[in-house]
Amino acid sequence: MSRLASPVYAAYRERTKASAENYDQARQFMPGGTSRQAAFWLPYPLTIKRGAGAYLHDVDGNRYLDLLNNYTALVHGHAYPPIIEAVREQIGRGTCWAAANEPQIKLAAAIVDRVSSIEQVRFTNSGTEAAALAFTIARIVTGREKLLMARYGYHGSLHEFEIGSFGNAGHLTFLARYNDLADFEAVLETHGEEIAAVFLEPVLGAGGIVCGDEQFLEGVKVAAHKAGALFVLDEVLTLRFGVGGCQGDMGLEPDLTMLGKIIGGGFPVGAVGGNRDLLTLFGPDDMKVFHSGTFNADPVTMVAGEVSLRELTAGRIEQMNRLRQMLQSGLNDIARKNSLPLAINHYGSCLNIFLSESIPDSPIDRADEELMDRFHVACLNHGLFIAPRGMVALSTVITEEDIAAALESADAAMRDVAAESG
Ligand SMILES: Cc1ncc(COP(=O)(O)O)c(C=O)c1O
Repeated sequence: MSRLASPVYAAYRERTKASAENYDQARQFMPGGTSRQAAFWLPYPLTIKRGAGAYLHDVDGNRYLDLLNNYTALVHGHAYPPIIEAVREQIGRGTCWAAANEPQIKLAAAIVDRVSSIEQVRFTNSGTEAAALAFTIARIVTGREKLLMARYGYHGSLHEFEIGSFGNAGHLTFLARYNDLADFEAVLETHGEEIAAVFLEPVLGAGGIVCGDEQFLEGVKVAAHKAGALFVLDEVLTLRFGVGGCQGDMGLEPDLTMLGKIIGGGFPVGAVGGNRDLLTLFGPDDMKVFHSGTFNADPVTMVAGEVSLRELTAGRIEQMNRLRQMLQSGLNDIARKNSLPLAINHYGSCLNIFLSESIPDSPIDRADEELMDRFHVACLNHGLFIAPRGMVALSTVITEEDIAAALESADAAMRDVAAESG
């Protein structure tokens, strides 16, 4: 059934008229009406007026249980009171200046305390910038120009990385299959002398919540070192999975770690961490890397990030994992009940839904795209906010009751979708 004839899309248009008007206006001033592709969907994205705890409220007055939490960044949900309190205090003292501030020391110390491979850290304003910075460090250390990453890995929107996330190699970008050590070794054997660094996520995030095999990750590190390249672990998304990130749980020691999302407590952020020897590159005495940015380590982000990390305890991570399990098994039950195919990848507090019998190579190359689009919009119609590609990331403020309500909404959404498919 076409989108125009679909009752699911008709219901969406009916209940989100103010969002539609905003979209028409936004398109006049921004191409596609947006600056963020991952926050766009057809027929138009919702305009959200406010977020509070586990809920989002749109400009038409509809409420949504947020099961995405800004693609994992809001690990404590929206307007988390301890973060708001710290930020409010900081804003009253000013938001940025071209000198040092104390909150950056606290956040850097908290990161060093939690993440075993990190002795020092350098802040940026996004994970994308963290990738660019890590790549720069690797190029300077090795004198080489290229990178190797996983096909469908995601390290932000710098061109050299973004092409890889769509499955394409480029003149600076080599690709190998995730969880395939032999493939990584083969590329490193053939092209190792050109490769400055290997970038890997311990769990593919945008690539569909695919857990990296520990032997694979360790093996790639060894192969990278053998080739004289750095091993960069991208924990922008995965830091939320363990107090010390995935590397803590998996016993991995990368040369450099990329961070972002939760270390900003809801504000724009990124960081690169590593051992002292490597990071002396930035030191004023031996400045091999000139790294600056108007808003780097601004005090507002730093206080928010420090609270966000402090409040993410092992117990709360465990609780989110338990609720993700409850959600996942409930989704399997209701898919069976509604005779819809369903396959789910998961790790920790995240999962990715595929409305197919099996899991495709990547969420960007999937046979269920049309069905997933429809299910996403049907979920919104029933007050459930998930990623258009089926990703879910829980927060610490989501309760068991919320998950039970989410399952009711998902059930109703599946019923609507099944009715149109049948
Ligand atoms: C693993 C990973 N690396 C890097 C990035 C890029 O971060 P940002 O969106 O802050 O540029 C993301 C964002 O989703 C990510 O998931």
